[in-house]
Amino acid sequence: MARALQGTALAGDTGDHLGVPIIRGSFIKTPSILNATTISPVDLQTLIAADMRRVDQVIESRLTSEVPLVGQVARYIIHSGGKRLRPVLLLLASGAIGSQHPDRFAMAAVVEFIHTATLLHDDVVDESTLRRGKQTANEIFGNAASVLVGDFLYSRAFQMMVDANNMAIMRTLADATNVIAEGEVLQLMHMRNAEITEADYLRVIRSKTAKLFEASCRLAAQLEGAPALIETQLATYGQAIGTAFQIIDDILDYEGDAEELGKNLGDDLREGKTTLPVICALQAANSADRERLIYAITSGDLASLPELITIIKSGDGLAKSRAVAAAEAQRALDAIQDFEDSPHTLAMRELAHSLLTRRA
Ligand code: IPE
Ligand code: IPE
Ligand code: MG
Ligand code: MG
Repeated sequence: MARALQGTALAGDTGDHLGVPIIRGSFIKTPSILNATTISPVDLQTLIAADMRRVDQVIESRLTSEVPLVGQVARYIIHSGGKRLRPVLLLLASGAIGSQHPDRFAMAAVVEFIHTATLLHDDVVDESTLRRGKQTANEIFGNAASVLVGDFLYSRAFQMMVDANNMAIMRTLADATNVIAEGEVLQLMHMRNAEITEADYLRVIRSKTAKLFEASCRLAAQLEGAPALIETQLATYGQAIGTAFQIIDDILDYEGDAEELGKNLGDDLREGKTTLPVICALQAANSADRERLIYAITSGDLASLPELITIIKSGDGLAKSRAVAAAEAQRALDAIQDFEDSPHTLAMRELAHSLLTRRA
């Protein structure tokens, strides 16, 4: 029996992302494609293990610098155990369209470098102390080294992208990095804002997170010179997966396990980040709880944090957030529903499911 993805689209979403309408309504039908056999996470590892080794080789060979601190900080974060999800998506998308373009390993390394650069910067901005179960680079090497090595990784990624000598790819990556930066600034502008709407939140996460997922999938099509429709379908899949991924990340900040996640829980509220679980909790809370939440977000007074986390967890805000993530996962599945049932396509479909129940 296929698993049903149920969910609701975000209110206020204009639905015009990449020309693909967002599904509206409170119930999403069971997609027929889910009747196909799904692939287990172990199979996914096997499917792309050889390709990922090639990506790791590129990463290793392009981390070189004559300045020792650059290599030290870059290797510390790159080898700290990330999931390598964006390279995985690029390789799966390549496989799904039958592409074996030789530059796919370099481009997969490029998206991981860009991701790593955003994490170095993000942990400074968020004053985070734990990532991937280890002390953050800013804790060990300081903020300045983290920011500057983040810049090194961004610019190394751009050197590698120029080597591919493909204008469409350069445009995708230049646009993606620009939009990610905009998303992080937009998020900064919304700090300690208790009036942020679902649409505001969506705009932030589409920019800061989903854009790189979108680019990773789009690059597979662009490397191959695939038809525009395929490129749009892959880009939509990536964007929807990335959006769902960030919503789940924001849920796990409340109900995850710090050890499994490798990050501290509760950081978002502590920093005054009004993420979807909080937006939903604010909508549903009684007036006393609402006042408490608003005070905590706007004042930054951390004394009542445990009580606030209880308020957020006790309502249906987390369930509602999960439903929104499920609607996005469904949108990802719909985008690639015409793709042939190859192992890579099945893995892409399985990923849309498994990210909803991820713990790390
Ligand atoms: C962390 O991304 C930042 C978010 C978009 C939530 P990942 O969860 O993909 O990070 P790593 O690379 O696996 O550590
Ligand atoms: C994701 O946002 C950061 C970027 C995509 C740059 P978060 O701040 O939620 O990510 P974590 O929780 O620190 O990994
Ligand atoms: Mg952060
Ligand atoms: Mg987070």
